[in-house]
Amino acid sequence: MRIRDLLIDPPLVLAPMEGVTDVTFRRLVRRIGGVSLTCTEFIPARGLVERPDRCKELADFDPDEHPLVIQLFGRDPELLAEGARVAEGLGADVVDLNMGCPSKKVCAHSGGSALMKEPELVQRIVRTVRAAVQGPLTVKMRAGWDPEHQNAPELAWMCQEEGAEAVTVHWRTRAELYGGTLRYEVVAEVKRRLTVPVLFNGDVIDAESARAALGATGCDGLMVGRGAIRDPWVFRRIAHALYGGPPVVVDAAEQERVLLGYYDDILERFGSEKGALGRWKKITRYFGEGLEGGEILRDRVLHSRTVDEARDEVRAFFAGMAA
Ligand SMILES: Cc1cc2nc3c(=O)[nH]c(=O)nc-3n(C[C@H](O)[C@H](O)[C@H](O)COP(=O)(O)O)c2cc1C
Repeated sequence: MRIRDLLIDPPLVLAPMEGVTDVTFRRLVRRIGGVSLTCTEFIPARGLVERPDRCKELADFDPDEHPLVIQLFGRDPELLAEGARVAEGLGADVVDLNMGCPSKKVCAHSGGSALMKEPELVQRIVRTVRAAVQGPLTVKMRAGWDPEHQNAPELAWMCQEEGAEAVTVHWRTRAELYGGTLRYEVVAEVKRRLTVPVLFNGDVIDAESARAALGATGCDGLMVGRGAIRDPWVFRRIAHALYGGPPVVVDAAEQERVLLGYYDDILERFGSEKGALGRWKKITRYFGEGLEGGEILRDRVLHSRTVDEARDEVRAFFAGMAA
């Protein structure tokens, strides 16, 4: 898959996730491999323009992290355009516009997925941002606002006509939040209408779900979010199964090493044990889902009051697994 002249091979992309996909998590996933494009969590365009000192941390990336997507959210075309310029200035290879966030806070200000209810505004946004940046511009959206308004095919086409160079579609509507029953039709329709690459997103967690999504929609690539927290090896697993390579086998010792190593990395970044522990707990919640008996690990880490306690719980859990 190519987004303009950027080769995204294998066509596997880490989804933006607020509070998760900071530079340390993206580093972890990139080190494991199989992922070709990584994305920051959403950054308010207004913040990036008016309070760059506060938002720069969100846009932090490693010198070798290219190609990199910086995702912006907002609803003011001029502010988004200015934010996109700043993002490019910081080193983004691609600027992505968020039209999929379901959070009440974001939608209350009519950003994120609420934009899907305002196609004319979306048109102005994409046109204005397109004119402001040199590099590729992409859009991420949901299937629509609710099951009665699944307008992703029309909206994605309009974004393409205004200059978006790839579109990611999460199969759910905003009303479904993170529930609902997996459907491929709307994303498949987006793919049929567009000539730029279309990425499928939502509940891709392994090679089987990846193959099914690509087969049912004909999409050019996949974006994976929660599946990568649960199993940071997911990109390698999918890449090897679909595009060639030996099966990826990860033992408990490797899982333990990665989880503890990740903690050291966030501690260094946050500088405070409290902030780092909070974030580590969040990751461990998902990571536990990928392990047999992982709810025990999750509960024990969640109830840890100190870093040392949490580390001991991780070690004890994996020692139990090995036994
Ligand atoms: C904790 C969390 C934070 C998220 N933050 C963002 C975000 O900043 N920008 C965005 O476009 N989507 C965000 N999403 C949505 C994901 O990018 C993705 O579309 C969604 O989780 C479905 O994909 P998945 O099933 O692979 O996780 C977030 C999702 C989660 C779980």
